[in-house]
Amino acid sequence: MRQAGRYLAEYRKIRAEVGSFLDLCYSPEHATEVTLQPIRRFGFDAAILFSDILVVPHGLGQEVRFVEGEGPKLSPIRNAAEMSGLSLTGMQSTSGPLEPVYEAVGRIREALPAETALIGFAGAPWTVAAYMVEGGTSRDFHAIKSWALTDPDGFGQLIDMLVAATVEHLSRQVSAGADAVQIFDSHAGVLPDGAFEKWIIEPTARIVAGLRGTHPDVPIIGFPRGAGLRYADYVAKTGITAVGLDSVVPVTWARDALQSKLPVQGNLDPVYLLAGGTKMLDAADRILDALGDGPMIFNLGHGVIKETPPEHVTALVEHVRARTA
Ligand code: CP3
Repeated sequence: MRQAGRYLAEYRKIRAEVGSFLDLCYSPEHATEVTLQPIRRFGFDAAILFSDILVVPHGLGQEVRFVEGEGPKLSPIRNAAEMSGLSLTGMQSTSGPLEPVYEAVGRIREALPAETALIGFAGAPWTVAAYMVEGGTSRDFHAIKSWALTDPDGFGQLIDMLVAATVEHLSRQVSAGADAVQIFDSHAGVLPDGAFEKWIIEPTARIVAGLRGTHPDVPIIGFPRGAGLRYADYVAKTGITAVGLDSVVPVTWARDALQSKLPVQGNLDPVYLLAGGTKMLDAADRILDALGDGPMIFNLGHGVIKETPPEHVTALVEHVRARTA
C-alpha cells in the first residue's frame, strides 16, 4: 500500500529530477525505477505499480493536476451535462494517453525477480468519481453525495463510464504483465446505508465480471476502506478473490466473517509503522495472532505516511518474516 513514495530518499531524488508527479507516472523508465526501489530495499513479496488512481479521469479527458503540498486538483464535474468533455475513446485506443503506464507494467514485470508478484491497480468508480466531482480531496464529500443521492440516473452515467474505463485499464495492465490487480475504494465508507450496494458493490461486481471476461484467472483484491459491517456483503456479492482490510476492522471479526471465505490483506495502522519499536511489533503480532493461521497477506491498512523512517519498515519485515517462516 503506497510502498513507493516520499518516505524514501531514492524516490525523492527521482521525483526531483523528473519534476511533476504526473510526469513521473507517465515516464515508463522512471515509473519502473520507483516501483523497484522498495523491492530492492525491503524485499517484499509483491511490488505495486507506481501510478495513481487519477490517471483514469485524465485518460477520460478531465484536467488533472497535482499541486505540491495540496494534493490533486481537477476541474469539477457536478452534473451529467458537465460530462460532455469526457470520452472513453482514449482509454479504448491502443495509442491513448495511458500507453506509458502499460509500457511501465511490461518493463517492471521484466525487471522483477520471477518470485516477486506485480500488482496493478485502479481506483473504484465511487472513489475516482469523488475526486472528479469534488475537484480534489474532500473532507465531507457533500458534492458527490448530493449528486448520487438526488440524481441517481445522471450520476449513474458517470459511474457507467468509469466502470467501462476501469475494466479497460485493468485489462491492459494484466495483458502487459500484472499478476494481480487491486481495486482501491478508499472512500467507500462515506455512503449511507442503502446507497452502498448501488455505488460500491454493483460497480465493483461489474468490473470484476468484465475483467474476468478477458482474464478469467487473474486475482482481484478489493479494498472498500471504511465499509465496516458491509465488508461482509461486499465480499459475498462482488466476486473479488481477496479483500484488503482497513485498520479499523476488528481482526477477530474479519477472521470469522471474511477470512473463512477468502484471503484477507492488512491491516496494520500506518501510524504504528511511523512510531516503530515494540508498539509496532506488538500491533503486528495482534494481527498475526488473529489471522496468521488462515490465508492472509500481511500489509498496512492504508498508505505509508511520508515521515516514516525506512528502518521501521525493515524491522517490521524482519519481524513478520521471522514469525511466518
Ligand atoms: O507504491 C504504491 O503504493 C503505488 C503507487 C500509488 C500512488 N497512489 C502513488 C502516489 C497508489 C496505489 C496510489 C493510489 C491512490 N491515489 C489512492 C488510493 C489509495 C489511498 O491512498 O487511499 C488515492 C485516493 C489516490 C489519489 C491521490 N494521489 C492523492 C489524494 C494524492 C495526494 C496525497 C499526498 O500524499 O500528497 C496522491 C499523490 C500520490 N500518489 C503520491 C504518491 C507516491 C505522492 C505524490 C508526490 O510524489 O508528491
